[in-house]
Amino acid sequence: MSNRTFTMIKPDAMKNGHAGAILDRIIKEGFRVVALKQTKLSAEKAGEFYAVHKERPFYGELVEFMSSGVIVAAILEKENAVAAFRELIGATNPAQAAEGTIRKLYATSLGENAVHGSDSDANAQIEGSFFFSGLEQF
Ligand code: CMP
Repeated sequence: MSNRTFTMIKPDAMKNGHAGAILDRIIKEGFRVVALKQTKLSAEKAGEFYAVHKERPFYGELVEFMSSGVIVAAILEKENAVAAFRELIGATNPAQAAEGTIRKLYATSLGENAVHGSDSDANAQIEGSFFFSGLEQF
């Protein structure tokens, strides 16, 4: 059990003006920001990040969406961070997300679901390193 996870605020939430509210909620829930940046993924980089989903029917749509606008990427720290963060964001499909979760409040649809959260400690490490060097993590 590690104390770090990785998140992205996705292009839908950025375009809809929810980045500030989402970051505020994350911090109020007790996550410490280890690293933070606004950036934009090229289609190539988005495809690389989501390579694990390459064979899924929604892969093309996912890559197109994730490269359609700016995102905010962050590494977060809290006890049992991966599970705690997934509870905070709610189910992948906002229609199934619990009341009060970030996806219930801010997501548009299954594909455009406002935030990403790592699904394991190993992936949190890989995904955080995808965006941040050691010099950018405090
Ligand atoms: P995320 O947690 O970032 O990880 C993979 C993403 O793929 C997921 O959030 C959704 O945004 C997207 N996704 C998962 N299932 C589908 C689907 N059936 N159709 C479109 N997008 C999907």
